[in-house]
Amino acid sequence: MANLLHCSDGSPKTALVTGASGGIGSATASALAAHGARVVVTDLEEAPLQALVARISAEGGEASSCVLDVGDPHSWQMARDYVRSTYGNLAVLVNNAGIDVVKSVADTTLADWERLFRVNSTGMFLGTQTFLDDLHEAGVASQERSSIINMSSICGNIGVAFQSTYCATKGAVRMFTKAAAVEFGALERQVRINSIHPGTVDTAFAAQCLHELGEAGFAPSPAEARAAIRAAHPIGDMAQGDEIADAIVFLASNLSRFMTGSEMLVDGGYTAQ
Ligand SMILES: NC(=O)c1ccc[n+]([C@@H]2O[C@H](COP(=O)([O-])OP(=O)(O)OC[C@H]3O[C@@H](n4cnc5c(N)ncnc54)[C@H](O)[C@@H]3O)[C@@H](O)[C@H]2O)c1
Repeated sequence: MANLLHCSDGSPKTALVTGASGGIGSATASALAAHGARVVVTDLEEAPLQALVARISAEGGEASSCVLDVGDPHSWQMARDYVRSTYGNLAVLVNNAGIDVVKSVADTTLADWERLFRVNSTGMFLGTQTFLDDLHEAGVASQERSSIINMSSICGNIGVAFQSTYCATKGAVRMFTKAAAVEFGALERQVRINSIHPGTVDTAFAAQCLHELGEAGFAPSPAEARAAIRAAHPIGDMAQGDEIADAIVFLASNLSRFMTGSEMLVDGGYTAQ
């Protein structure tokens, strides 16, 4: 198991995770490292990243940190310079960073719309474009296609009240991923690209969202909103971060080598209903 993210010659693959200080991102970084990757953890602030690097090191993994604002093209160039000078070509990119706003269509401002698209959709586009050549080169060198995993959501598949902007950004992630997969095939890029679509995951992000949904009238109180959301997943609960991280490890590794342009639902059956 420890070698899922090694190349066939035994060398570790290099992976970068955005939004790595958050619930899903930190679980993903730990899981990638546990399976043999060298992980570059990135987010807006250095201190939580350093704590994460220390945790991964204590777990026996290899990681380093780099501050990266996914909405800023210059920040992506700096991250690319860091990865290339430290490790060489990137083999796994997890575009995970994301933000939400819980508002009715009528109340959503243009600033809300642009802020969410900048992080959730533009960030994913910039990351893909910035690292595409390096990912291709790593794929050629290892004879295993590199892997991009784009964080969508069940909100990229179905509509959710008071989350129209968030749903729109996650739908953009889903369709960009499919078009890029087709294009990479046509251009013989040695890169696979898939999106992942979690149901509700028990993180600070979800807690805030549930609080706001309760306030918006979806449920009489945040506690009842939480109970309703748990019951809405046929599996009977929200996911934990590691349950999404394990699916990301699969998409990152060569176990998923025939998958590209896929939308992987990890949603406890939410969208099966
Ligand atoms: N929690 C859920 O229920 C859920 C469900 C489906 C999808 N998702 C998606 O999973 C991803 C991670 O969510 P989470 O629950 O771990 O949230 P989280 O709030 O715990 O983590 C998100 C991280 O993204 C970072 N971030 C925000 N703006 C950024 C920027 N401009 N540049 C770089 N980093 C930035 C934050 O600092 C934070 O560390 C998001 O894309 C979210 O939309 C979450």
